Amino acid sequence: MKKIGIMTTGGDCSGLNTAIQRIMHGATLRGWQVFGILDGTDGLCVTPPAVIKLTDMMLPIENARLAGSFLHNGRATALNFETAIERGQVDKFNKQLRKSLQALKLDALILIGGNGSLSLAWAHRDIYRDLQLICIPKTIDMDMPLTERTIGFDTAVQQLTSYCDQLMLTARSHHRWFVVQAMGRDCGNLALNAGVAIGARAILIPEIKFDIDALIKHIQDSPTDYGIIVVSEGISLRGHSGRPADMISRKLTAAGIVNRTAFPEHTQRSGDTTATDRILATRFADCALNAIENGETYVMTALECDNVHTVPLSDFVAAGDVVHDPKIPDLMTSNAYVSPADPLLAVAYNMGIYIGEQK
Ligand code: F6P
Repeated sequence: MKKIGIMTTGGDCSGLNTAIQRIMHGATLRGWQVFGILDGTDGLCVTPPAVIKLTDMMLPIENARLAGSFLHNGRATALNFETAIERGQVDKFNKQLRKSLQALKLDALILIGGNGSLSLAWAHRDIYRDLQLICIPKTIDMDMPLTERTIGFDTAVQQLTSYCDQLMLTARSHHRWFVVQAMGRDCGNLALNAGVAIGARAILIPEIKFDIDALIKHIQDSPTDYGIIVVSEGISLRGHSGRPADMISRKLTAAGIVNRTAFPEHTQRSGDTTATDRILATRFADCALNAIENGETYVMTALECDNVHTVPLSDFVAAGDVVHDPKIPDLMTSNAYVSPADPLLAVAYNMGIYIGEQK
């Protein structure tokens, strides 16, 4: 009988519980034992490791649609990779993870994480050398290479869309604009997709330079005197500081455009998991279990042209734009961004949405 572990790390998103429930259920059907590691790597930094045995009774199917992680994602103050770097304890931290995984006698670990967690797992892969490491990509930012979708993205787009839908009504009543700041770190996928969904008048993303005067003119020339401008949290405006939505709002106000700012913040990571995300989580869970059966290790599940398959973690790291992680000085993360060839950019442009100064 195999013994497998599941761990969720990094920022949470909707769809994690679907993935956990499906892994647990699929593994149980195979006669395997499943352990949930609590609080991400925090659970491996205590002796004995903090784990729970997962069963259908413990994580009932009706809860699989809920946002957040049933296993938690960790505490900011605990020993984790970020704090280990700050405290000069990286070796101690890595040894502790390995020791705990050995103590648990796991055959395989399914790590559900974002680009930081996966890049880190590859950089410190020795930790996992005694077991099979299978990764599942999740993030609302959709900034991971080699997969066309990550768990949580579709729900986040839906959450942001619904949020903007509500604002649109009051915007109309008051003849005013809303500048809505989307999450996504330095990737514009979330802002772009929700912006197109709501028919935003403008979408500003970090990947495309914009001209503030051109934006102002575009709003002044709008056939409506209300609407929504979606700005990604990763944009910047030369000579200005503060939150991006505030910077844009001040410029609009100075030009006589009546507006308000709105910050949906972490509601983008919550909300009942959409059917699309649940299906993706189920497909990734199934793929991860098959990968364990096939003896694979150091792989990630990925969606490509509607096919779910595994890709080597080494490819994941090699395929992205390798950049310094601002939160972890020693770590290079593999990121993906909105490509200039993304068809949604052309669609947005053709629909009269200002998306910056495209060539
Ligand atoms: O990476 C996911 C994400 O939600 C980003 O979009 C956002 O910038 C960040 O995490 C917020 O992090 P925290 O939960 O630490 O505020």
